[in-house]
Amino acid sequence: MPTEYKEIVEGYKSVQVEKLISGTRLGFDVYIRDGGIIKILFNKGMVFTNAAKEILSEKGISEVFISGRDVSEFNLYFSKHKPPSDESTATVFKKYSFYKEKHHPIDKTLIIAGAKINFSLFALNRFTFETIIEASEGSPAAIDEKALNVTGDIVIKQQDIPLYHEYLNSLLTSSNIISKTEHTNLKAVAIKENSKMIIKDLLDNPRSGAKIKESNILVNNMIDCIMEKKDAIYDLLSLRNHDYYTYTHSVNVAVLSVGLGIAIELKRDNVEKLGMGAMLHDIGKSAVPHEILNKQGKLTDPEYRAIQSHVIEGEKIIRDHKEISEESLHPVLQHHEKLTGKGYPFKLTGSEIKLFGRITAIADCYDALTTQRPYKSAFTPFYALSLVSKETGDYDSDLLKAFIKMLGKIK
Ligand SMILES: [Fe+2]
Ligand SMILES: [Fe+2]
Repeated sequence: MPTEYKEIVEGYKSVQVEKLISGTRLGFDVYIRDGGIIKILFNKGMVFTNAAKEILSEKGISEVFISGRDVSEFNLYFSKHKPPSDESTATVFKKYSFYKEKHHPIDKTLIIAGAKINFSLFALNRFTFETIIEASEGSPAAIDEKALNVTGDIVIKQQDIPLYHEYLNSLLTSSNIISKTEHTNLKAVAIKENSKMIIKDLLDNPRSGAKIKESNILVNNMIDCIMEKKDAIYDLLSLRNHDYYTYTHSVNVAVLSVGLGIAIELKRDNVEKLGMGAMLHDIGKSAVPHEILNKQGKLTDPEYRAIQSHVIEGEKIIRDHKEISEESLHPVLQHHEKLTGKGYPFKLTGSEIKLFGRITAIADCYDALTTQRPYKSAFTPFYALSLVSKETGDYDSDLLKAFIKMLGKIK
């Protein structure tokens, strides 16, 4: 099993779906692997219905996970069967997948009481979905206090993304709603939100030269922002507890790489090349079939190879964009390489891995550990850092030290 997956399922026990019996109440949380990460599927106490079982098999999910802490609960489960009392398990799962596909998560920092919006806001909280504010171009609404206290993610409809974009710009230009300090933070958050939208578009259409130009502008905005104020890294990162999306991860890896590049005093144009490469490091995932990226259960060897091919696919895409520099290829090609030679695709060792490759490898691993977890088991930055450093010899120790120092300073 490639290390990428080994670390992700650590602490969880895999359970074959057939071991879950229809009509029984689950005495433990059940998790699935979604896009390479573990996330909660069924809450403890829910009834596992026939319909839920059918949906899992329809989706090709044959394996689920339980937390290591729940192993004794799981063993107990087999000895007590209760009749089903509701059908909620199946419906919530179906609804959740539907809502996740149709909506775009936005940063809560930008939900400011009093600001006018012309698109609706919804709360997606694990498996519940509700409207917070109803608004449209024809009937805008002001954001009220209620929206500020929402737990879970705030999402908007996919088709409202351009309106959200306009809202971001209007926030940055209006001086009456926000104070000057807030303005700096908002600028960072707006850069992040715009970057997420651009990368999302690029993953759908990786040959778009216009989007590459836009990402270059955003990388430069990111650099300016961090140079102006180190703390901006914190605002530029998408926080833990959010759902996982490749585009969010890409932006985080760019922010962390740029931050580290600045911390080790690289020249401005080098930071820019590093940032571009880091932002696009997983762009090759656009060429990996969706079913494989999101497949539940064990991946077959060919499927692992298909996922790993995102590196080479990414290189092909980047090479087609002549305006991207050769050095920006290093993060794309080398972010899964390890100094010990245990990485892929080329099993490079030591000095064969370039500086930008080494930086992005650390940022990639750190982000995977902190942002791609269900909220219960999200690693704290501190724990994630100790895990990254435990992989002795895999990462550049001097860079790792600088990385830890950088994160220590901003928290
Ligand atoms: Fe990757
Ligand atoms: Fe990555």
